[in-house]
Amino acid sequence: AKLTSSRKMDHLRICSQENIETGTTLFDDVHLVHCALPECDMDAIDLSVEFLGKRLGSPLFIAAMTGGHPDTAEVNRVLAAAAEKYWLGIGVGSQRAALEKPELADSFAIVRETAPHAFVCGNLGAVQLAEHGAEWAERAVEMIDADALCIHLNFLQEVIQPEGDRSAVGCLEAIRQCCKDVKFPVIVKETGNGISREVASQLWDAGVAAIDTGGVGGTSWAKIEGIRADERGAAGDKALRELGDSLLTWGIPTALSVFEVAGTRKGPVIATGGLRSGLDIAKGIALGATLGGMALPLLSPALSGEEEMYASVDSIHYQLRAAMFLTGSANISSLQSARTYITGALREMTRE
Ligand code: FNR
Repeated sequence: AKLTSSRKMDHLRICSQENIETGTTLFDDVHLVHCALPECDMDAIDLSVEFLGKRLGSPLFIAAMTGGHPDTAEVNRVLAAAAEKYWLGIGVGSQRAALEKPELADSFAIVRETAPHAFVCGNLGAVQLAEHGAEWAERAVEMIDADALCIHLNFLQEVIQPEGDRSAVGCLEAIRQCCKDVKFPVIVKETGNGISREVASQLWDAGVAAIDTGGVGGTSWAKIEGIRADERGAAGDKALRELGDSLLTWGIPTALSVFEVAGTRKGPVIATGGLRSGLDIAKGIALGATLGGMALPLLSPALSGEEEMYASVDSIHYQLRAAMFLTGSANISSLQSARTYITGALREMTRE
């Protein structure tokens, strides 16, 4: 696809060409206890898992990335083809652009067209929800015949965008009202800075169906927006770049965020942010998550085509299956109760 200069395409180009990962997930501090006598058959391990009333083929969730520019449709098509083939959950990128300009809806709608059986999630920013209310939530879901809607929280990114929204006033109330007004499940997600136990409690009380941690250790919007600021090169952009640099590791590492959110749990938790292998998904599940989300690791395969995409999913599933076998977990619910040793910084930060 030809990469144009729009913001959507900037994000895809920068994410596929530069190193935009910062910080640590702290998954290195999570050790699954090895089971020398697994008493199960690796090939017979059941990766399927129930999520918000639907059976998914595996806990791998394709996290929100793109849409809203005609050149992004092919990426979404390849991601969706994998979601259909493996019965995965899949999120689309922010639908704001297409809600403002309906002619951009095709690059999102292609996901449901390609994946009639997948668990598809719409996507809207909390700020847009606060501005436009449940009407936009309904329209976002209708656009792609979604099973659920993800509301994203991305205030760190907003801080480093010159055009960013810097008022979060009314977002929690908008989420509460939306959960009351709509019939589909509402999932709230961070985009790389994590969710604390306090915020998780507020969100469950507001009526959200699931929480996606979107923690530190993978894609960094401080880094991406810093690079964009550099590329623009205007006077004010230097300050934004420096601000981005100072916030490179800001936030809650994913393993810690999963631990905190799962501790307040009233619904399923998705572990996302820096998961880079099936082993990371297994660790997230052992810490209390139901699904493990990945965005960046799936971007290059999706840009390369279906074959590369399927090979990546196969490889992630193989790693997950191995971790399950070596912990003696024949299915996901068994993995959820697998014992872990917690060391280092994660141990210090989870100590009550
Ligand atoms: C994202 N992410 C994202 N999230 C969201 O809610 N709406 C969006 O539009 C986007 N857009 C987007 C574009 C690109 C190119 C990437 C890589 C990511 C955030 C994503 O869903 C996820 O929370 C984070 O990227 C953390 O996961 P990874 O990338 O470390 O696996």
